[in-house]
Amino acid sequence: MKFLMLWLSFWSCLGLSATRAPVYGTKGMVASVSPIASEVGADILRQGGTAADAAVAVGLALAVTWPSAGNLGGGGFALVHAGESPDTFIDYRETAPAAAGPDFYLNAQGELKEKESRVGYRAAGVPGTVAGLALLHKKWGKLPWKTLVEPARRLADKGFIVDAALEESLWSSRELLLLYPETQKIFFNKGKPWKRGDRLVQKDLAASLALIQRHGSDGFYKGKLADLITSDMKANNGVLSKADLSGFKVAEREPVRRKWREFEVVTAPPPSSGGIVLLSILGMLENDKIEAMGAGSADYLHLLIESMKKAFADRSVWIGDPAFVNNPVTKLLDPTYIAKRRAAITDKAAHDVMPGELPGESPDTTHFTIRDSKGMTISNTYTLNGSYGSGVVAKGTGILMNNEMDDFTSKLGSNNMFGLKQGARNLIAPGKRPLSSMTPTFVYKGKDLILALGAPGGPTIINSVTQTIINRLVFHMDIQEAADAPRFHHQWMPDKILWEPHGLNPDTKKLLDLKGHVFRETPRSFGDIQALAWDEENGRWTGGSDSRNGGAVVAE
Ligand code: DON
Repeated sequence: MKFLMLWLSFWSCLGLSATRAPVYGTKGMVASVSPIASEVGADILRQGGTAADAAVAVGLALAVTWPSAGNLGGGGFALVHAGESPDTFIDYRETAPAAAGPDFYLNAQGELKEKESRVGYRAAGVPGTVAGLALLHKKWGKLPWKTLVEPARRLADKGFIVDAALEESLWSSRELLLLYPETQKIFFNKGKPWKRGDRLVQKDLAASLALIQRHGSDGFYKGKLADLITSDMKANNGVLSKADLSGFKVAEREPVRRKWREFEVVTAPPPSSGGIVLLSILGMLENDKIEAMGAGSADYLHLLIESMKKAFADRSVWIGDPAFVNNPVTKLLDPTYIAKRRAAITDKAAHDVMPGELPGESPDTTHFTIRDSKGMTISNTYTLNGSYGSGVVAKGTGILMNNEMDDFTSKLGSNNMFGLKQGARNLIAPGKRPLSSMTPTFVYKGKDLILALGAPGGPTIINSVTQTIINRLVFHMDIQEAADAPRFHHQWMPDKILWEPHGLNPDTKKLLDLKGHVFRETPRSFGDIQALAWDEENGRWTGGSDSRNGGAVVAE
């Protein structure tokens, strides 16, 4: 007995788990990619704010401290759990401007002008973020709007210290940031991107935030800011108009949900493909004894990857903005259909042609998860699409504009910047929302919310969320380990498994090679999971901020 105690205490001195320990708390908690923004959110909770109040403050603060993806000029989704009412999904994704149609990115010969949907003034959809955050505040907020905008305004006005993660992000996007003088002026210092330790001050952005602070969302969609944004668009061949801005509407939707093992997963409906693909993959893995196979085993990875392929193949044809197309959600999630898809998975990898390239290296989105002490929980993913969006800062506003238009099918048969092949249901139409992969998600056990999470990473988001759920709930990793564990991505086409350096034991890889899988190592890590999870053993909430990025969990 004595020996056993000694042996145990020896091992416990080596640490709590395979990675750093999660953050524990008894009240509210915020997980985001930016330690400064997480602190802003926790402070709002300490002032008696709700999770919705904190989401507004964090969403705005990230637009200052994590400018590659935090935004005012982009859009996103918030999944909300508030009191006894059913969970709801706030869709503030960008819409196509009225002047954009299916041929918007085609030249007279019908050829795709690929760059236009990705860089510059014509790449931007109508931003939704400010309207989305204002709605969160209106429906579930308690503190004054002014109080929630103030931390972001101050951070922009007085500046903040650049950390290593932001330095790396600015450096890797330097070519895009150099294209437009208005953008360069903000993110460059004496000809070089800002470095760790520098203080980054954004005066124009502070003034824009002051307008939003005074006038609410009208401060963005009407008046001076709308004038500045649209006149700069006009001067540069962009099409986003005042009517587009003033006409923007947030949509409230019912999430998609499915029982999975002893849990229920509640997640993103169309215009995100995320929820459907996530639930399909989980569905195909429902009855296999993956816990016995083990995390990282060849058998588990084979099943996982084959399920990813099948679910992503369906994504490419079946899903689009529900305001424009009929999505066969019920059919795609029908247990008989899913069982049939699972039955078609054989012991060998199925092969498809490879039409395009894999995801590029600099896309960016960001996710934050917030829970308050009363249990209100918000899982929010928002984005400019690529890192720093279109690269355009609307003159005089300090606001980076998105390049979300690239998420549409710009031309049938072509791939978007994530290498996704997309279908007719996702063609451009005025006012339509492009198909997304963003997947803010909740998992319940009985009536209890036990996990809330999301991630950036384009199509890899869905697979990051899937694997984190399985790591936590099937392999019983703590939430930090579950986020940090090596990940894999397959999106049907191209037929390659994206994997991380050292993410796979060579012996396991050999077994997968024998089954016919094709691998491509990515030098870039997958997107950072930001998650909160109930830890039954300790009777505490825990938070994990993926060590792939420089984020932090802060408890109230
Ligand atoms: O909505 C989507 O699926 C994409 N616009 C998300 C982009 C993204 O996650 C880039 N992040 N790393």
